[in-house]
Amino acid sequence: MGDMVTPTLTLNDGSDIPQIGLGTWKLGGEEAYRVVRTAIGLGYRHIDTATLYGNEEEIGRALADAIAAGDATRDELFITSKVWNSDQGAERTPRAFQGSLRLLGLDYLDLYLVHWPCPQQGLYDETFEAIARLQGLGQIQSIGVANFYPEVLEDLVRSTGIVPAVNQVELHPGFSQPDLRELHLRLGVTTTAWAPLGRGRVLDQPVIRAIAAEHGVGAGAVVLRWLLQLGCVAIPKSSNEQRLRANLDISGFVLDEQQMRSITELDHSEIAGRMYQDPRDFPGQNP
Ligand SMILES: NC(=O)c1ccc[n+]([C@@H]2O[C@H](COP(=O)([O-])OP(=O)(O)OC[C@H]3O[C@@H](n4cnc5c(N)ncnc54)[C@H](OP(=O)(O)O)[C@@H]3O)[C@@H](O)[C@H]2O)c1
Repeated sequence: MGDMVTPTLTLNDGSDIPQIGLGTWKLGGEEAYRVVRTAIGLGYRHIDTATLYGNEEEIGRALADAIAAGDATRDELFITSKVWNSDQGAERTPRAFQGSLRLLGLDYLDLYLVHWPCPQQGLYDETFEAIARLQGLGQIQSIGVANFYPEVLEDLVRSTGIVPAVNQVELHPGFSQPDLRELHLRLGVTTTAWAPLGRGRVLDQPVIRAIAAEHGVGAGAVVLRWLLQLGCVAIPKSSNEQRLRANLDISGFVLDEQQMRSITELDHSEIAGRMYQDPRDFPGQNP
């Protein structure tokens, strides 16, 4: 059993989400199995995957083995997957969902997300409504979206009358998304930060290094602590046991207001901006 306990946030539907989760993009095959199995042993309880990642089967095996070994119970685990762009729509979405469930070997998911809004397809409303119906059937605990920017999030809430529990978006030092976080707060949406470590590329920033030295912790821990104190969930990916452990072990120190502000102000530095495509025009004409 892992000995590190992750704090949780309560979503707008009353469910709890562990504030640190394991990102699994680019983890495939036996590596996906090994990393997820190791992570649960270390104390991770929240695993983030997607149909797109092509690793749901290996993750499913890791979950089954971890449960069989007594590392965690199904109840303690929080499993997220996402419907891919080409599976959007009232008919395809439930089929895609059943495929994820089968590959993961589960009878419900804790969270299921619309992966990208793809505004050019014009299907995100009916996709989200299909997900809401699966929630009604008891197959999904919480429902949400990813990569929704203010205009599409407000449109979704207006047209479906449902406030997503989560919006999972790119968010890291240099791109702290203050306007979106403010809107989330107003609507009651929990923010999950993807690429929380800026894919590892923000960790050599002098501001972050200096704060890490003051607390005697790693740069990754400082960034994850900043996200937790902003009220976000973070899903860092690592395939290295030491870094998996470090990313979970962030409860022994607190950033003060000045330290929080100096990281947020990296939004106005040379690392400012997104690392990935703008969801307003992703993925172009080819979902
Ligand atoms: N919804 C979406 O559209 C979307 C898009 C992208 C990503 N995501 C999710 O977000 C997750 C995380 O994003 P990401 O994987 O792109 O980037 P990330 O978690 O910000 O960064 C991962 C990189 O940082 C390194 N790293 C991890 N911990 C570290 C530490 N403590 N110190 C130094 N380096 C460290 C990792 O290398 P090692 O593995 O060698 O440790 C890896 O190269 C994804 O895995 C996925 O689940 C969602």
